[in-house]
Amino acid sequence: MKQQTRIILVASLTINFLWLFGSSFFELYNDPNEAMRQVRALAVKSLQKFDLESVNSPKAILIDSVLDCILDPLSKDQEADEPSKPTTLSTALKIAQESTLRKVIHKLQLELSEKKAVISFLSQPIINDHDFGYTHNGSLFCAKGDIDFLFVVPSAPHFFDRRESARRRDLYRFTKDRRNKAKLLFFLGKPQFGPDFQEIQSQIDKEVETYGDIIQENFEDVYKNIRLKAVSMLKWTSTYCRAARFVIRTDDDIRFDIGNSLAALQSKSLSYTDFILGERKDNGSPMRKVSHKWYVSPKEYPQENYPPYAYGALLGYPISTVALLYQAALRVEPIWMEDVYLTGICAPKVGVPILRDDNFVFDHEVY
Ligand SMILES: *[C@@H]1O[C@H](CO)[C@@H](O)[C@H](O)[C@H]1NC(C)=O
Repeated sequence: MKQQTRIILVASLTINFLWLFGSSFFELYNDPNEAMRQVRALAVKSLQKFDLESVNSPKAILIDSVLDCILDPLSKDQEADEPSKPTTLSTALKIAQESTLRKVIHKLQLELSEKKAVISFLSQPIINDHDFGYTHNGSLFCAKGDIDFLFVVPSAPHFFDRRESARRRDLYRFTKDRRNKAKLLFFLGKPQFGPDFQEIQSQIDKEVETYGDIIQENFEDVYKNIRLKAVSMLKWTSTYCRAARFVIRTDDDIRFDIGNSLAALQSKSLSYTDFILGERKDNGSPMRKVSHKWYVSPKEYPQENYPPYAYGALLGYPISTVALLYQAALRVEPIWMEDVYLTGICAPKVGVPILRDDNFVFDHEVY
């Protein structure tokens, strides 16, 4: 038997013995505290016989704590009538810990009910399938991996010159520097049907061969189809570029600070798993002037106001958010204004908040 175990055994036997005759001790001493001290002293004395070098030896301290445990109920009885002292350090700590625990549980319960709402939303059937084929699928574009930032840029099929000048700009150069682990892709639909359809398409085919930076999906690329364009970018990215960490959706006619923007995006990802970072527009409302470029009919969107949304010209999100937004877009009644639709109407359905940051902003550039 180990020495420690033997001592504890002896200690508890001794205490049992003292316990039996304890009442007579309390009769001997009128002061219960004094009786306690005597009981303890006697116990320690009898235990010292068992190989205890000194009262302060580790073994003695061990026995003392054993005694404390056994005698504790006794002393509790004695102190029951005294006022309690809730302000001791340990009580304060206990209260603080309990309150933290309650907060943590409350937060987890909130998160759980939000997640349940998202799951039940995503269990609903698809009402807007996005099932177009690809003319250029770029399925190997992300295959070589290690992409921190994927820039996706909507572009009209016949905008050859604008893509050409975009390839001379800082952002494109940034993505060509391997150290930045960044890539850029233009997203096109099919050229508008007409006499020059074939010519435009074969020029795009050549462009793909030369630069390999174009994804072309088979829906008709007209302005009113910008929602399909936006959804096609979400679909392609969440299908073929799962290895990217962040996706930045940007137009080719804006200016923004690349370094600051990417730093802001990364910093937000420390506090949020899924989010949209962008310039948020509160109190927006649908344009009801029929001739206006942004006209939205009351039939398409009956409410007077838009929910808060983020301008589509510059948006950043983690790759996991792209998949959520895409799945939401398959299940939410569409309006053609893509930024209102995706960031204002779809995002809340999948619990994705819109965040803003002073370093994630853009200016329009006149072409
Ligand atoms: C992508 O396109 C290439 C040829 O353009 C084709 O061989 C390949 O099967 C396509 N991949 C997918 C996944 O559709």
